[in-house]
Amino acid sequence: MAARGRAIAARSGSGPFANLLAPGRLGPLELPNRVLLPAMDMNLCDDGVITTGEIQHYTARAAGGAAMVITGSSAVAFPHGATTRNQPGLSDDRFIPGLRALADSVHRVGGRLCIQLCHHGKTSAVDTAEDRPLLVPSAPTDTLDLSALQDNTMDELMKLAAPSKAKSPTYDVADEQAIAWAIDQFASAAARCREAGADAVEVHAAHGYLLSAFLSAGYNHRDDEWGGTIERRARLTCEVLAAVRAAVGPDMAVSVRVNAHEYGLADGLRADEIAIAAPLFVAAGADAIHVSANAHNPFADFTEGPLPSRVGQYREFARTVKAAVDVPVIAVGRLLPETAEEMLGAGECDFVSMGRQQLADPDLVAKLRDGRRASVRPCINCYVCVEQNFFEGTPRCAVNPALGHEDLAAIVPAAASRHVVVVGGGPGGMETARLAAERGHRVTLVERADRLGGTAWFSQLTTPANAPLVDWLTHEITRLGVDVRLGTTASVADVAAMRPDVVVVATGAVRGRPDVPGAHLDHVYTGDGLRDLITGGAGGAGSQRSLVERVALGVGRTLRLTERPDRIRELSKRWMPIGPQVVVLGGGLVGLELAEFLAERGRAVTVLEPGPALGLQMAMPRRWSAVRRATDHGVALVRNAEVVEITATEVRYRVGDDELRVAATDVVVAGEVSAGHPLADELRAAGHTVEVVGDAGEVGYIDGAVHSAWRVARAI
Ligand SMILES: Cc1cc2nc3c(=O)[nH]c(=O)nc-3n(C[C@H](O)[C@H](O)[C@H](O)COP(=O)(O)OP(=O)(O)OC[C@H]3O[C@@H](n4cnc5c(N)ncnc54)[C@H](O)[C@@H]3O)c2cc1C
Ligand SMILES: Cc1cc2nc3c(=O)[nH]c(=O)nc-3n(C[C@H](O)[C@H](O)[C@H](O)COP(=O)(O)O)c2cc1C
Ligand code: SF4
Repeated sequence: MAARGRAIAARSGSGPFANLLAPGRLGPLELPNRVLLPAMDMNLCDDGVITTGEIQHYTARAAGGAAMVITGSSAVAFPHGATTRNQPGLSDDRFIPGLRALADSVHRVGGRLCIQLCHHGKTSAVDTAEDRPLLVPSAPTDTLDLSALQDNTMDELMKLAAPSKAKSPTYDVADEQAIAWAIDQFASAAARCREAGADAVEVHAAHGYLLSAFLSAGYNHRDDEWGGTIERRARLTCEVLAAVRAAVGPDMAVSVRVNAHEYGLADGLRADEIAIAAPLFVAAGADAIHVSANAHNPFADFTEGPLPSRVGQYREFARTVKAAVDVPVIAVGRLLPETAEEMLGAGECDFVSMGRQQLADPDLVAKLRDGRRASVRPCINCYVCVEQNFFEGTPRCAVNPALGHEDLAAIVPAAASRHVVVVGGGPGGMETARLAAERGHRVTLVERADRLGGTAWFSQLTTPANAPLVDWLTHEITRLGVDVRLGTTASVADVAAMRPDVVVVATGAVRGRPDVPGAHLDHVYTGDGLRDLITGGAGGAGSQRSLVERVALGVGRTLRLTERPDRIRELSKRWMPIGPQVVVLGGGLVGLELAEFLAERGRAVTVLEPGPALGLQMAMPRRWSAVRRATDHGVALVRNAEVVEITATEVRYRVGDDELRVAATDVVVAGEVSAGHPLADELRAAGHTVEVVGDAGEVGYIDGAVHSAWRVARAI
């Protein structure tokens, strides 16, 4: 079996992504390049049956150049072992027509289809909902720390509990009969995939599900032949692989996905253990090893695994497994094209899975192939997509509004070209300008600052992952010939002079101050009053500069680096014009990000959040991690804190009946943000056709700005 995988095509070609774009062999499959779409649940199925939405989603990624698309986890014993009834089912022939339609559609655009085979074991919410015990190798020995859930709304908690109907799980420790049944379910499911015309199957032995629980000493405490040494823990996956191989024959590829690390789990799997198990998988029939990782507690460490936040976070794991086998190794884990190219070039892996990046841009490979790297819409690592999976929902992408609605992705040329004037060059204004220009409109974008990006430009200081979005939007509107007028504050008269057919107001949020004594003292800054910075200090906050402005100008100007947020980030670790004790008012997205930024730079930071929960504007996994990181950095996080007064040296506040105070050299107002669009009202009164997008219309952050812009620009 290994010989099939060994025949990896020689790498060829030239150009910046020669390795990534070189053909490769995966088992019996000749693939045109090295980029796969890894499994990502779309949850668009109807009681396990594939629907048009799923077909359109995978077909778009295959058409965009992915060498092979892997479906989201599909339940081999559906509804048993299923995590939701919205995922694909594989347990009955009634599922075959939908799967066949999917395979046919992917093949029509020249792609290859792999179906991911899964039994969700201890996370099979459908079993709990339907009063079945969860199949596990051993009875769980601990309970998860759920303290992160204090930063959730009641609505979110109810949605989190819905898949299991809020029932408590019970467990069935697998006996020989259950193990034989599970193996048979995988094999029968694989046979149906073959019947449907799929090119490959992936045995899901990662992410805490049944097979991965057997693999891990952290979950498998058995002392029979299915537990103990890594070889014995690997036995179930090997038997599944052998049965699957027997079911699909030699013409289909079989890969196996594994955790090479389990964050936050004592005795969790390690890469060196997988290096021992991987050759056994190959001997059992695997054509490729897909090296992922997981976290024990999703409410604590989800941004470590299975969706890592650091670029190339699992690189080392792939390298270790690669050294142990002679079949292709598939690497994953926030891989940028450049990282992937480097890894392939260094022989650390043979294929790469790029997940969220292909949610953000289905045409990733086609653009790389066409030499259009700068036109790839970047994933900003915001976790908005996967949040929906916690609720059995369909992923939403902050930067790609067509995700889950592929039928709306095509750019429809405008019936007649009109002059669209966009006021504001943040993500909302730039996305409007981009799409309107793509559709054939003549677009003028007016921005009062001397750079594009709006508040998102400054967000790069605390959140560098946002930088590529600003760069991409800037690149695209330049490429499309949008007439950008920087350093221009648009008034009604200015706009009228441009004779627009439509005006889109994207002027961002309105930022205020708390209504307490001392709110206007000199050391109180509007934390995200960034428009002041853009305009050089004019605007709502008077002559006072926002805190980020102070950092940017203090460090940036001194060092002549105002245009380089990445350098400012680095150098501000050595010096910045902020005192030692900072109180941040508001523990939302901006407050938490700022708190971590300041604490990382040695400031003693206290966050006073008026509500009961922190970070609600962040998607859940990111929010939980942000709270944890802030805590790890020593930030004092106070919920339900009502600010009473700010003095020259401290902030006085109340929590319940307790009167408290904290010393402050600087105070940052990170809340008090609201929508507002006086310019739009004035323009409408003057008879213009006006649309409002972004925070000016409804504070929705980058996600809200891009989505509202997309809706408006599609309709003009
Ligand atoms: C520190 C920090 C970190 C952040 N991190 C994140 C994050 O990680 N994720 C996230 O989703 N959001 C984040 N945000 C918030 C996010 O940047 C904003 O919500 C988003 O940029 C809003 O986009 P917008 O286009 O609606 O408005 P803005 O980005 O605010 O842009 C509005 C633009 O309009 C211009 N303008 C205003 N009036 C006029 C006029 N009359 N004429 C010409 N131009 C005008 C302004 O100069 C500005 O450039 C962060 C914010 C801060 C401060
Ligand atoms: C919305 C979403 C759903 C996912 N569902 C699955 C899944 O069904 N099976 C699986 O093995 N991994 C799943 N993953 C993990 C991805 O396959 C991938 O390993 C992970 O996103 C890291 O790769 P990336 O950083 O390139 O996104 C999912 C990821 C996302 C974003
Ligand atoms: S929602 Fe955010 S993390 Fe998910 S693909 Fe889109 S940009 Fe990336």
